[in-house]
Amino acid sequence: MVLSKIQNTALVALATLFAVTQAAPGARVESRSLCFDYDSQKVRGVNLGGWLVLEPWITPSLFEKGGDAAVDEWSLSQALGSDAAQSLLSQHWNSFITADDFQQMSAAGLNHVRIPVGYWAVVPQSGDPYVQGQLDVLDQAIDWARDAGLKVIVDLHGAPGSQNGFDNSGRRGSINWDNVPEQINITLDAIRELSNRYATQYDVVTSIEALNEPMTVMGDSGVDLSNLQQYYYDTWGRLREVNQDTALTMHDGFQDITSWNGFMGQNSGVWNVMMDTHHYEVFDQGLLSQDTDQHVQTACAYGDKVAATDKWTIVGEWTGALTDCAKYLNGRGVGARWDGSYGSGSSFHGSCDGYFQGEVTSLPDDVRTNIRRFIEAQLDAFESRTGWVYWTWTTEGAPEWDMKRQLAANVFPNPVTERQFPGQC
Ligand SMILES: *[C@@H]1O[C@H](CO)[C@@H](O)[C@H](O)[C@H]1NC(C)=O
Repeated sequence: MVLSKIQNTALVALATLFAVTQAAPGARVESRSLCFDYDSQKVRGVNLGGWLVLEPWITPSLFEKGGDAAVDEWSLSQALGSDAAQSLLSQHWNSFITADDFQQMSAAGLNHVRIPVGYWAVVPQSGDPYVQGQLDVLDQAIDWARDAGLKVIVDLHGAPGSQNGFDNSGRRGSINWDNVPEQINITLDAIRELSNRYATQYDVVTSIEALNEPMTVMGDSGVDLSNLQQYYYDTWGRLREVNQDTALTMHDGFQDITSWNGFMGQNSGVWNVMMDTHHYEVFDQGLLSQDTDQHVQTACAYGDKVAATDKWTIVGEWTGALTDCAKYLNGRGVGARWDGSYGSGSSFHGSCDGYFQGEVTSLPDDVRTNIRRFIEAQLDAFESRTGWVYWTWTTEGAPEWDMKRQLAANVFPNPVTERQFPGQC
């Protein structure tokens, strides 16, 4: 694997070289009749996190019903048993987000939603504890999006074997996705299924995202970058079997976003491809130590990076959070770096009181101002390229992350184009 890491680095270097000689930043992949013009319009969107794929920190109460063993959707479903899981999850799917939410998004000036869904909703595997029914809800969501004038990016958030080991892949722990070729095939089957299902809804579903956050920077224990690149080519093929338009969105795999310049580029015979990169400043000791001015500078610098990509690029996840305090954010049973409870390497920056759980309106004035400044800087930075999709629409009570409550409390600009702190980048 050391060898393969070196090969990967060489590939990336080659891709970068290609970018300089063939596809300088600013060059565009040919676009074909999508109902959203990703060249000239800005993506302004929000993720519907914790809805059709559960995450402990977005809905802690659901996981607490499964006892301490319930750390992800897999173990929650196992702990509850299929009847109770079906009942609890169906209730959640039908109430957590409704038609009214889509109207609120539209009223705030959003034009996209990114909707995570797991493979288990699309191509259920015998032996998995997961329950199904999410696709009917997704169908409904697409109708609500159409009514509200929003476009949808359907995002495959979990693959069999897990592509990142995060609880939000459905199964926390080791990363086994590309160790088993059959699992890659199942994932491609899921893409084909989604592609077929939504082929005629191209007026709303402008894009399908191949796979969320495949972890390619962990050497032997992660996903192999060349396997991921092959998977992206195959995914493009699955989409084109049924539809010439639907854009393929590809996460950067935690590689430098500009290292993808040249990959599936202008002269490679593909079209309607978009990169997705995620930007968080709270999962790292050094970044947590920054004051708000420094956080703003970090965000603006990331905007410059994103502006140097050769394909449409969205920042498909980012947040106003300035701490990692939200309850269960780092996983059930795991503490926070902010207050030093994360374990070795974490040190005290401040108390998590108020950030752990609570209302946006209960945050101190200066904290709300800092979050607003940080959000505005990121909006400006990420609109330097194709645009942005905030993480996340709503939560049970994570005040730094909850766009619905932040809009109501004027912590998120409402409408999203309003600025109290213009020109920060
Ligand atoms: C995966 O799919 C390809 C193409 O259909 C097939 O050739 C291959 O045998 C499959 N691999 C496994 C392990 O199922």
